[in-house]
This record gives sequence, C-alpha cells and structure tokens, in this order.
Amino acid sequence: MEAWLMQTQSLCIVMLMIAGIVVRRKRQLHVKIMSLAMIWDVLLILQIELSRSAILKASKAVSNPMMLNIHVAIAVTTVVLYGFMVYTGRALLSGQSQIRSKHRILGYSTFLMRVLTFITSFWAVLPKE
Ligand code: HEM
Repeated sequence: MEAWLMQTQSLCIVMLMIAGIVVRRKRQLHVKIMSLAMIWDVLLILQIELSRSAILKASKAVSNPMMLNIHVAIAVTTVVLYGFMVYTGRALLSGQSQIRSKHRILGYSTFLMRVLTFITSFWAVLPKE
C-alpha cells in the first residue's frame, strides 16, 4: 500500500484523538471515540506490517535505519501507552476517581507520542521513495 494512504489514516487517527480530548467530559462519547482511534491505529499497524514485507522485497536497501528505528520506538511506546489508557479509563468508569490524574497525564502523554509518531512517519517513508 502507498505511504500517503497510511499517513492519511494516521492523520485521521490524530484528529479523532483531538475530538476525543475535546469531548473528554462526555464520558460515553469520549470512550467511543478513543476506542475507535486505538482500534483503527492497531489496524493501521497491521496494514503497515503486511505491506512492509512487500516493500522490503522490492527495495533491498534501507538507507536510513536510525531514523526508522526512532520512529518505530515512538510508535511502539504509543501502543504500550494505549494499554495504560484502557486500564486507567476502565478504572475511572468503575468509580475509582483517584486514578483520574494518572489518566489525564498518561492521556496527554499518549496524545503527544501519537503526534510524534505521525511526524516521524515522514522520516520513515523518505528513504523508500
Ligand atoms: C488514547 C486514549 C485516551 C486519551 C488520550 C484520554 C484522555 C483523557 C483526558 C485528557 C481526560 C480528562 C481528564 C481530566 O481532565 O480530569 C479523560 C477523561 C476520561 N477518560 Fe480518557 N482518554 C483515553 C482513553 C480512554 C478510555 C479507553 C477510557 C475508558 C475505557 C477512558 C475513560 C475516561 C473517563 C471515564 C474519563 C472521565 C470523564 C469525566 O470527566 O467524566 N478514556 N481522558
């Protein structure tokens, strides 16, 4: 699959997250939007992994692996943070309101990492084009 199609999806996921943060006080809507964003993101990773093997077959050289590695590290951190978001989010829903500050700090960190994933994805595709 072409890189721009993946990056368009990536931008949509970032925008969904902005929408989810805007409606953070509307619990039901917030949970629905954030769940959709995270599921879509996992599906995007799957698409990238499935087509990367095809890309590797076509182009034998990766000219800048360090840039790619930084991008992958940030992207993996984002997905790990998703786990913490689901955990602390579910705890909030079950009435453990003392976990709110954790969910908030982790939430803004997750959003920051997701934006960095989007920005660094341009480094990752550059050598292949
Ligand atoms: C990437 C995913 C997510 C991000 C970035 C995020 C971010 C946030 C932020 C910034 C707040 C406001 C906290 C505050 O100001 O006190 C919030 C509230 C909340 N979040 Fe999330 N969240 C995410 C996922 C989830 C998930 C998966 C759940 C549930 C399973 C959830 C449940 C809640 C609840 C219940 C609140 C409190 C809403 C209220 O004020 O009544 N969040 N979230």
